[in-house]
Amino acid sequence: MEFTLKISLKLKAVALFATVTLPILSQAQFAKSEDAIKYRKAALTVMSTHFGRIGAVVKGAPYNKDAVASDANIVAMLSTLPWQGFGPGHEGGNALPEVWSNADKFKSNADKLQETTAALKVAANSGDLEAIKKAFGATGQACKGCHDDFRKK
Ligand code: HEC
Repeated sequence: MEFTLKISLKLKAVALFATVTLPILSQAQFAKSEDAIKYRKAALTVMSTHFGRIGAVVKGAPYNKDAVASDANIVAMLSTLPWQGFGPGHEGGNALPEVWSNADKFKSNADKLQETTAALKVAANSGDLEAIKKAFGATGQACKGCHDDFRKK
């Protein structure tokens, strides 16, 4: 009796949550540019933190397979996120206007990053340090290539 009551309360909570949050999520856009900028910078910062931890290992810090695999999984997932913060009208921050005026090229740079981080994830989960070093280098090139053209110096 008490058990069914608990379940029914939980279901009500889930239903309420869905009603409140779905309309916001389904917009898939940020109402204010400052929110979009904050979001993309946050995603890039966290991605960069975990990428940097792999970088330390590449440069000679002790290699722990699970730690590197975990960092690479996070980097691969996060590399899919920042781009939704660069939607139409959200110029600003340290992004150059070319992000919007040359949106196709920006997108292909973002796609390239996601390919290289996916490969880094595969390498990290395989535990092959040489393969990790290679994939880390390719990913770093993808970061730099986009920053050269689309980020303020
Ligand atoms: C497709 C283009 C692109 C790629 C690829 C890219 N970045 Fe960036 N990054 C940017 C832009 C544009 C900004 C400036 C964002 C802003 O200020 O609004 C930026 C900003 C940053 C910032 C600063 C965030 C802040 O708080 O101001 C960090 C850190 C960063 N990138 C790290 C990386 C790393 C590490 C990679 C590769 C693993 C990477 N980025 C790949 C375009 C890119």
